[in-house]
Amino acid sequence: MNLNISSSKVEVAKNFADYFVTICKSKPIVHIALSGGSTPKIVFDELAANYANLIDWSKVHLYWGDERCVWPYEDDSNYKMTNEHLLSKINIPELNIHRIKGENGPQYEAAHYSQFLNIVLPKTNKIPTFDLVILGLGDDGHTASIFPNQIDLWNSENYCEVAVHPISGQKRITITGQLINNAEVVAFLVTGESKSDRVAEILNKNDIAKIYPASLVVPISGNLEWFLDEAAAAQVISTQS
Ligand code: 6PG
Repeated sequence: MNLNISSSKVEVAKNFADYFVTICKSKPIVHIALSGGSTPKIVFDELAANYANLIDWSKVHLYWGDERCVWPYEDDSNYKMTNEHLLSKINIPELNIHRIKGENGPQYEAAHYSQFLNIVLPKTNKIPTFDLVILGLGDDGHTASIFPNQIDLWNSENYCEVAVHPISGQKRITITGQLINNAEVVAFLVTGESKSDRVAEILNKNDIAKIYPASLVVPISGNLEWFLDEAAAAQVISTQS
C-alpha cells in the first residue's frame, strides 16, 4: 500500500492525474472504473484542464464503480458529473464510455452491468479485471456504494448489486468486493478533515474499522494507492511523525 499525501485538494488532483497518465500509458487498452463524489470532481477538472492531450483516450475505456438509480441528466448522476467535468472536455470515443444505466430497473441493471463486465473485461483469477478502480471514502466508511449497514454486499457472488443509501433510501448500482479486490490497481481519492477519523481507523487497522466496507479493500495484486490531502491524513501523519 502506498500513501500519496498532498498539501491540498488541488495537489491531490495533480498528483493523481500524473498517476492516471502512467496507468493510461501502461498498456495498449486500459479499463478504468470511476467513482462519484466531490474529490473525483476536482480530479476530473484537472485532467480536463491540463492532461487531456497527454492521454490517447482511444485506448481508455471508462466504467463506473457505482451509480445512482437516476436518469443520466439528473444532478445525482455520477455519469452527469463525469460528463460535465471530464467527458465533454476530452476527445474520448463514445464507444469507450460504459455508463451504468441508472434509469433502468435496479435489479435488471445490476445483472446487465455484471454480464457486460464479464464479457468486455480481461480476466485474472477467472474474474473480470479493471486496470484501475478509483474509490472514494464516505464519512461512514462506505466505498463505492456499499454502506456499513449492507456490508454483506461486499462478498456477493455477483459482480454488481443493488444498494440502498442508508439515509436517503436512494437505490444505487455498485460493483462488489470481488471485482474491486481483483483490480490491478485500486486508488482511493480522499480529501477533507471529515475523513481523517475513518482514514486513521482503516490505515491503523483499528477494530472499529471492521464495520467499514472501505476496510475490506485489499487488492489481490497488492497494488493499493491512497491519494490524500493533509486534512484527511492528519491523524496518519501525526502517528508517523
Ligand atoms: C458516490 C461515490 C461515493 C463517494 C464517497 C465519498 O457515488 O457518491 O461513489 O462512494 O466516493 O461518498 O464522496 P466524497 O468524495 O464527496 O467525499
